[in-house]
Formats: sequence, structure tokens, C-alpha cells
Amino acid sequence: MSPFTILTWLICFNYYVMDHFGLSDILSEPDKYTPDTLDLLSDDEAREYWLNTCEKLVDKYVNFALSNKDDPTIEIRALKFKTCYVEALKEIRVNPLAHGELTIRLLLDINETCLRAQGFFDLWKRQKKYENEAALAQLASRLAEIDAMPDDRQKWLALCSGILAGNMFDWGAQAVTSILGCGLTEALQKIQKRPWLYDGLDKWLDKLQTTVHHCAAVFVDNSGVDVVLGVLPFVRGLLLRGTSVILCANEWPALNDITNSELENVLQSASLVCPIIAAARATGNLVVRSSGQRGPCLDLRTISVDLVTEMKIRGVDLIILEGMGRALHTNLNARLAVDSLKIAVVKNAWLAQRLGGPLFSVIFKYEDKPFQVLP
Ligand SMILES: *[C@@H]1O[C@H](CO)[C@@H](O)[C@H](O)[C@H]1NC(C)=O
Repeated sequence: MSPFTILTWLICFNYYVMDHFGLSDILSEPDKYTPDTLDLLSDDEAREYWLNTCEKLVDKYVNFALSNKDDPTIEIRALKFKTCYVEALKEIRVNPLAHGELTIRLLLDINETCLRAQGFFDLWKRQKKYENEAALAQLASRLAEIDAMPDDRQKWLALCSGILAGNMFDWGAQAVTSILGCGLTEALQKIQKRPWLYDGLDKWLDKLQTTVHHCAAVFVDNSGVDVVLGVLPFVRGLLLRGTSVILCANEWPALNDITNSELENVLQSASLVCPIIAAARATGNLVVRSSGQRGPCLDLRTISVDLVTEMKIRGVDLIILEGMGRALHTNLNARLAVDSLKIAVVKNAWLAQRLGGPLFSVIFKYEDKPFQVLP
């Protein structure tokens, strides 16, 4: 076999493997995709910051766990968790590649792994339930507020600001504790004023004038105000235009991110409030699916095969990534194969500064599907 034949074969095989799960319907160039925005191996300052930050969060969590006096095993488990995570971080300091490519995604995943190893499967379960219920109680009035807007443009402005304000409600971010317990309106006051750090709002509003997307896959973030008062009204806006929606949520609990089974319950309650959501669920125009992810970030190479297949069958032509984990720590620079919206509020002072904006900078990045270059 000539080297050329071997090369051709390798390229074809590689293409076959990359496309085997239909990733080329999601990623513009699957073989060039790296989910992570920062490379903590080459970026010394970022590495120092994130290792220190993660280490500091350990004690905060251990103290929280210890406040549960009902469980006699909690102390030993919490301390074992601490050892597990702190040791891993120490190891990484000595050998940055000890646990695989060093990224924020990895550091957050190790946290979840150490927690699960000590039987902390879903720490925020009660809190998430409580927040979902509290937010659901406000859904009707939020929808009425949006419906009262004089025209479509105003409506979409409100829906876009709403999804951003909703993303402020995040227990994983330290900078936001001051607004937890407040409402969407207060959160709206806190986020960056336009022009945003990434301001694709006009481009998105223009797109809505000319296009009705067939089907959108929306990867969601936090429970409570975020998903209920931010994401659901936005999704309802899409449904009203004739775009069907696949809501994609984590398979396993991570921080206060909503899981697919929790989201199913939330939608059931939302259906009682909103006939549009109810009808879309009944006709299959609105479905919830597991993204197959276990951590708070999103690696599009590892979303479940079933989801990739369904996205292809339903003809997804819009992908929406919401929240810091899915649209900032990962995928901010990823080129997707279809139109995409990346939406998040930067709730970390270091990261905001690194990106060149103030705390609570807004990422609202709209990108058209790239032109297909025929081989
Ligand atoms: C690890 O998970 C716990 C529980 O969800 C959380 O409180 C803590 O902030 C997490 N640590 C990091 C570094 O994300």
C-alpha cells in the first residue's frame, strides 16, 4: 500500500468515525471541535486562578454538608470528599495532565465524581424543587407581562432579556448570592447594559424577521427562575412561531442544574398554567431529552447517541446553549453546523475581566450556520 493510499484511508476512516453518530449535523467541523474555551495547561494565570477557586469551594461545601445533623455518616463522607478533591487538585498542580486535558470542565467533573464516590448524589435536590415551585407560581404573570408587549420586537427583547436575567440565578456562581431570593426584575437591573460583551441581539431579531426555524435544541442550565421564568417563556415564543423544541437537560444532577426528569415535572406543572406549552407537549412539538451529560459543562461529542439521532430526524436547525457551563466554559468558540445562540451572564469576576468586560457581562452570541463547502 502506498503512503498515499494509507493516508486516504485514514482520512476516510476518521471521517467515518467522526460522523458515525451524526455529529456533522451538529458540529461544523467535528474533527476540529474542542469543547473547552480555556486551556489551563498553557494558560498559567487561568490555571492558578481556577485551582485556587476550586480548592476554596471545597470548604464551603463541606460546611454546608455538615449542617445536616440528621445523618450520622455525613461528617466522615464530607471529609472523605474533601480529601478526594483536594488530593486531585494537588496532583494536578504537580502534573497538570494527571487527570486528562486540564480544563474548567475537568475540574468541575472531578468535583462531581468525588461527591458521588462519597454518596452525595444530589445535594441540591430539595433546594431545586423548592425553587422550581416558587418560580412556577410566577410563570402565569411573567407570560402575561410578555403577551402585553405592543409588538413582536418588544416581545423578543423581553424574552431575550428574560433568559439572561434568569441565568443570574445560579448557585454555582459565588458572585450572585446577593440576588438569590430576589425576582427576575431585580436580576434584570444587575446585568450589563447594552452594548453587551457579545451583542448578537440585533442579528438575532433580524433573523427572526426572515426565518422560522423548524426545530430548536435548547441545552438548559439552572433550576428555578432560570429555567422556569427565563427559558420557558423563550421556548414558548419559539413554539408560537411554529418552531418545535427539544429541551435538553443533564442526565445526572450537577450543582443546581436541572435534570431531564426534574424538567419533565416542571413542564407538567407549566402545562397547567400555559395552554401553548400544554398543546405542544401533547403534540410532541415540545419534548424533554437527556443530554447524557453528568457535569455542568457540555461536550457535544459525548451527548447521547439517541439525542443526536433525534436531532437529525427532527431536522434541528437551531441550537441554543444556555448558561456559563454550556456557553462560556465550553462551546463559546465552537462552530456549530446549524444556526446557534449562545447565551450566558458572566457571574465570575476573574472571567469577566479576562474577557474584557464588567462583572455580569452578557454573552448573547448569534451565529448563522456556516456555508457548506462541498468536498
Ligand atoms: C462541587 O459541588 C458542590 C455541590 O454541588 C458545590 O457546592 C461546589 O461549589 C462544587 N465545587 C466546584 C469547584 O464547583
